[in-house]
Amino acid sequence: MAGALPRRKVLVFRELPPDQLARLAALHEVTVANPRLPEQLPAFHAALATAEGLIGSSYKVDAALLAGAPQLKIISSVSVGVDNYDLATLSARGIMLCHTPGVLTETTADTVFSLIMATSRRLVELANLVREGRWTRNIGEDLFGTDVHGKTLGLLGFGRIGQAVARRAALGFGMPVLYHSRRAVDLASDAPDLSGKAAHTPLDELLARADIVAAVLPLSPATRGLMGAREFGLMKPGAIFVNGGRGATVDETALLQALDHGSLRAAGLDVFATEPLPLDSPLRTHPKVTALPHIGSATLETRHAMAVLATSNLLQALAGQRPAAVFEGLSG
Ligand code: DGY
Repeated sequence: MAGALPRRKVLVFRELPPDQLARLAALHEVTVANPRLPEQLPAFHAALATAEGLIGSSYKVDAALLAGAPQLKIISSVSVGVDNYDLATLSARGIMLCHTPGVLTETTADTVFSLIMATSRRLVELANLVREGRWTRNIGEDLFGTDVHGKTLGLLGFGRIGQAVARRAALGFGMPVLYHSRRAVDLASDAPDLSGKAAHTPLDELLARADIVAAVLPLSPATRGLMGAREFGLMKPGAIFVNGGRGATVDETALLQALDHGSLRAAGLDVFATEPLPLDSPLRTHPKVTALPHIGSATLETRHAMAVLATSNLLQALAGQRPAAVFEGLSG
């Protein structure tokens, strides 16, 4: 057919919704193989050997894996975070990386705020008390939570998601917001609704002043282990720590130490250094920890929007067009 583009080989390495799989299959030769399932691993590696496009998420795409993909031109990640990809190898090979910023901002901010509420008001612990038939008299002070409204929020990271959390805090809950990020954001021009409501603050000062510290950081060499023993030690007595970014930005041993022997009141965690969280991790059952299974963007609407954007990115790249959401952090 005149003008028809060649059908390319595409490997889908995490389930995509049927409507998006159909968009891909209409134009390209698609193989679906999940490398996390041992029985699909041989098919995954066989398809990798000839794939020009990859689409998926939550799997380490390292130099060894990329060595088995000599034809690869484009990876479309169904995630905003790109810490699973060997960026140096992608740059060196000229492989394009796309991701899904924007469409998950509000949902992820909802998750972070849920953890702020859950930890401060002890929601999971107290809901379990009812569920388990232990609500036999009015609860006393030993089970009271702490207020959220009016408290000072310290945000580690102030990109799209950080700013969306800041809006919930400042505009909805009257919370003064301090934020730590590489550069101060010009709020008057870039986020006027937060103007005068959020202050760029050095890390140590933020940790010493915030009642609740919430991390929404991507994982990079600069952020790995950012929250360690020294940083937890600087936090206000009785403060709460929440992480909705990446687990490895936190030294989990130092966090446990701060919960057990320091004065940290509670931690709300959606992300962990190793995921799924190992069964023997003390964080799983710690009485002061509310742990979620990395659900930052996991709503029906948002996961579908992410799949649509990732599929569009891949289709555009394979058609020789500039995709809507190229990850701009690759050198070269
Ligand atoms: C993201 O998109 O990076 C979320 O954390 C899901 O992995």
